[in-house]
Order: sequence, then structure tokens, then C-alpha cells
Amino acid sequence: MLEWHELYDGGSVEAEQKIFAGLADQMLTIQEASRRKTGSDQPDRTLHAKMVAGVTNARLIVDEALPAIFRVMHFQPGATLPVAVRFSNASAIPQPDFAPDMRGAALKIGLDGDDVHDLLMTSYPVSHARDARQFVEFAVIAQGPRETFVERLVASFGEDEAKRMMDNVQEASRPCPSLATQRFWSRGAILWGQMPVRFDLRPVAQNVPSASAGEAPDFLRAELASRLASGDVLFRLALQPFVSEKETPIEDASVQWKEDVSAPVEIATLVISQRLLDGEEGKKQAGVVASMAFNPWNAPASFRPLGNLNRVRGLVYGMSAARWQRGRPAKVVVDGIDTPGRMDEDGPRLGD
Ligand code: HEM
Repeated sequence: MLEWHELYDGGSVEAEQKIFAGLADQMLTIQEASRRKTGSDQPDRTLHAKMVAGVTNARLIVDEALPAIFRVMHFQPGATLPVAVRFSNASAIPQPDFAPDMRGAALKIGLDGDDVHDLLMTSYPVSHARDARQFVEFAVIAQGPRETFVERLVASFGEDEAKRMMDNVQEASRPCPSLATQRFWSRGAILWGQMPVRFDLRPVAQNVPSASAGEAPDFLRAELASRLASGDVLFRLALQPFVSEKETPIEDASVQWKEDVSAPVEIATLVISQRLLDGEEGKKQAGVVASMAFNPWNAPASFRPLGNLNRVRGLVYGMSAARWQRGRPAKVVVDGIDTPGRMDEDGPRLGD
């Protein structure tokens, strides 16, 4: 029997929810500050504002040899699952693709009926933040004047923690020459049936993009478009099972689950098939994905997100999306994938 556990901030689910409500308000303040900075009438996603590419008709093909322990609900040997994919730059304000930043990959798996299963990842294996409080405090500090950033970070977290976070963010913001050669990690754990796992997407493409690729503000999209014009772009989805609270902690997202401790098990292939990304159909699909709200809590209970950093996300993403989705169509259905539609003003609450 594996010994893993969740620890609630403040000692109970209710106390943690109260803390999360305060953190969510701070994230909304950041969303509003970004709206003012960009001079827009409409708020955007609080993070990952720039969509680099979006497709509605990717497929996840589950391996025939899927190990029994990972056979959960729709993840069954040989299953083909419809998937929408949104690639993004992580910052709150859209920037040129060559600016230091992380990349995001958000998958929305269409299930029977209206249900979806979202898998969200970024391009660095481990979070700068141990938990939700650190994540939000760092985001608030990062919003302030650049000249005093380090000073304020040290005042808040102490020298060692501030250095650890800055090193992490600097390393994570390294240039990305191509989305098709980029690896993406969940960073937090989720339940996979009975087993806590972290997951990642690893690129199948190995060839290097052209040397001039990185000079234009939207070069990542152009680079992906040129690959997709001549063939499929593939990734493998892998799971890292929980080993022990010491080596693969649930609650501390700043600790890497090392691959020599928990070897990743590849379980499925994500196929983005050959296409004209900038053709009429490609643009239509991009428009649909731009209107989709992703949330790690859009998941059946068997795939519940775990850990404090992940638990806060249900509330924060819901509240952020309720604002940027205001005024958008309530629901769009394309290629069998339903977008969850516009949410209520306050967004969904955990436990709803
Ligand atoms: C565990 C590590 C995390 C990963 C891998 C991750 C990944 C992502 C990705 C890929 C997106 C873009 C979704 C899209 O394409 O629409 C996103 C958006 C976002 N993330 Fe995270 N994230 C993490 C942690 C957090 C935390 C801890 C918070 C807040 C406390 C947060 C706040 C947000 C917000 C507000 C958005 C925008 C949601 C929306 O408005 O639709 N993220 N994240």
C-alpha cells in the first residue's frame, strides 16, 4: 500500500478554501492590472494570455500495451480520444515569442456527453512555487517595479528561497526554438485511478528548426505551421508514478520527481495531423480554441488534481475565465469537443 497524503493549508478543507478565496482575489487584481497595461476593454487570461497555436482535431492514441494500473475510464488500450490543443506563452501580457518566457500546452480531451478532461503542462519540470501562497505572492511581487524586484522577493521569502525561485524562473524561461521539439510537464500531481502521478508530453520530432526561425514576433506559430504543412507533429504522453512522500512529494510542487526515482511510462501518442495551420479551417479551429477555458479541475474524479498548488487552480482558473469569457458565446461544439461555455460571474467553486 502506497503511503501518500494531502495536507490542507489551515488544517481543513474549509480553512484552505478561505485562504484560496483571498489568493484568487489577488490573481484577479493581476488580471485587471494586465488589462489596464494593454489598454484593452476586455480582460484576458490572467496567465498564458498569448495563444501561439490552437487546433480542435488532434487525437490521443492510447498504447495497446497500456499497463493495467493506468487503465482508467477512457484511457484503455487502443482507444483514440479527440483532443483540442492550445499552445501558449506563459506571461500575463502577450509578448514576442523570442522574449524570455515559458510555454504552455493545454489538452482538452472530449469524453462522452458534455464531459471533458483537461491536461495542462508548462515547459519546465518543476515549479518555482512550493504551494499556492508562494505562487501568488511571487506573481504579485513580479507585477511591481523591476528595479526593486529582487529586494522585495528577498524581503518576502528570505535569501535562500528567493534565490531558488529566481534560478528556477530564469532557467525555465530559456528560449524555445520550436513547439514541436519542446517537452512539457504537469509539475503538480494528479490522481490516475488509485495512483498519484505527474505527467509529461515529450516531442517525437528531433530535427532542428531553421536558423532564422527565432527572429519574428510570432515565429513559433510559423515554425509549427511549416512542420504541419509537410507532416504530422507527434508527442508521447508519459506518466511518472508516486514513489514516496520524501522523493515524490504531493504537496511540494518545487521538488522534481526525478526520473531515476520514478521512471516515466509512455502511455499514448498525441497526433496533430498534417494541415495548413493558416488556412481557412486552421483559422476557424484557432478561433474555437481561443474561446475554450481550460482548467485542471475539468476532469473526472478518478483524475482529481492533488496538492495545494493544484487545489487552488480550480477556483483561480474559473474566476479568471469567468471574466475573459464574459460576452462570449455560451457554448461551441466542434469535432465532438464541447467547450465548457461561459461560467457564472464568480466562477466554479472547488467541491461544486
Ligand atoms: C502546477 C503547475 C501549473 C501548470 C503546469 C500550469 C499551466 C497552465 C497552462 C498550460 C495554462 C494555459 C491554459 C490555456 O491554454 O488556456 C495556464 C493558465 C493559467 N494558470 Fe496555470 N499552471 C500551473 C499553476 C498555476 C497556479 C498555481 C496558478 C494560480 C494560483 C495558476 C494560474 C493560472 C491562471 C489564472 C491561468 C489562466 C486561466 C484562464 O483565465 O483561463 N497556474 N496554466
